[in-house]
Amino acid sequence: MVGKVADPRAWRAAVALGRVGGARYPGRVDCEVRFHPSQQRVRVPRGASLLDAARGAGLPVARACGGTGLCSRCGVRVLSGPVSVESADEAHAKRANRVDPELRLACLARLQGDVVVTAAYW
Ligand code: FES
Repeated sequence: MVGKVADPRAWRAAVALGRVGGARYPGRVDCEVRFHPSQQRVRVPRGASLLDAARGAGLPVARACGGTGLCSRCGVRVLSGPVSVESADEAHAKRANRVDPELRLACLARLQGDVVVTAAYW
């Protein structure tokens, strides 16, 4: 399944099947993502991006580059829980676009466990 699903129910079904963002997750272990302050929750496979999780919950995330890590518009704040280490590309994109260094790019940050995340517009 590829990332562009217009129907949120179809997207949630794709998440439930472990197919999000064009990737499959064999032997998946689910992570719970809680979105603050909306308190919405979604379970997605470990290794999914925060962008995939937010889309799975039906929450908007600003993105102009289609999730390729170039625009830095998808910045979110991880309040707790493990996500992947920031890559040099992510750090460079944030610097180039003057993004708060404390934010993570939702399209590049991968879930490593249960997390709580927030964005100003949720
Ligand atoms: S969607 Fe453009 S950097 Fe994440």
